[in-house]
Amino acid sequence: MPRLVAALLALARTAAADLPCAAKPETCVPIKTATGDLMMPAVALGTWRGSYGDCADNDYSCVRAKAKASVGDWLDLGGRHIDGANDYRTQVEIGEAVAGADRDPSATGVAASADCAASPYYDPGTKVRQETWKAMELLVKLGKAVAVGISDYNATHIEETLEVAEVPVALHQVEWNPKKHDEDMLKLCQKHGIQLQAWSPLGGAEGSVTLKWSLQRGVAVVTGTDNKDHMASDLDLFGFALGYYDEVAAISALQ
Ligand SMILES: NC(=O)c1ccc[n+]([C@@H]2O[C@H](COP(=O)([O-])OP(=O)(O)OC[C@H]3O[C@@H](n4cnc5c(N)ncnc54)[C@H](OP(=O)(O)O)[C@@H]3O)[C@@H](O)[C@H]2O)c1
Repeated sequence: MPRLVAALLALARTAAADLPCAAKPETCVPIKTATGDLMMPAVALGTWRGSYGDCADNDYSCVRAKAKASVGDWLDLGGRHIDGANDYRTQVEIGEAVAGADRDPSATGVAASADCAASPYYDPGTKVRQETWKAMELLVKLGKAVAVGISDYNATHIEETLEVAEVPVALHQVEWNPKKHDEDMLKLCQKHGIQLQAWSPLGGAEGSVTLKWSLQRGVAVVTGTDNKDHMASDLDLFGFALGYYDEVAAISALQ
């Protein structure tokens, strides 16, 4: 059964020029909004409990503490995009870390994504999906979100969303890594101008080459770690390039 997660990209309600991408456009990707394209940091930090291997199952006080500390470290390192979801139970801690007293004022240009409706257990059907999308659009119309997107949709879900969409579908977050990448989904998103974003972009592999492969395929990434050295490495992806015809193609062929 496909997981339905309607994702809300609650990009900071600052002028586009104030967002972190103005200073470093090469670290960002464009997403569509109702009023034109906006740049979004291409590398996000996730806050799902599965990203914190040290926390015992269902120990949410551990997960929350890790989320708060890691988001703080991410912001200190210059990361400006954070991924959250209602069922991760870490949204309060993300907010607390972003609001941290000593934070560089540019951290107010942070891009946060959070899910608005999630149902991993059943397929609610076309009508509910379309109504959920209209509710997401309302958030944009009310000025509560700048851009809205989806997660873990299949091609049919995307087509039925596009049938009713008045606000662009900015982004689609799916599992994407060298061992699991749906090339048809990438093409479909590119056809409709939807930015694809990878969850579990490492998929058990290590290091920046794996993340860089996604970026060079045109896919933004949400990585997960509470290790500050790993965070620094996950943000340090813009001073090198993989060869398209050897390295990128070879990694794509690993699936
Ligand atoms: N929409 C959805 O359905 C969905 C589903 C799952 C996840 N997500 C989102 O995606 C985020 C990331 O998922 P994930 O944790 O599976 O992603 P991931 O980044 O592919 O994997 C995380 C693992 O990679 C390690 N790691 C990270 N950076 C590293 C580096 N530079 N070198 C070596 N190891 C590194 C981490 O270990 P260390 O802690 O040791 O660094 C951690 O064990 C989640 O937090 C969540 O926000 C979304």
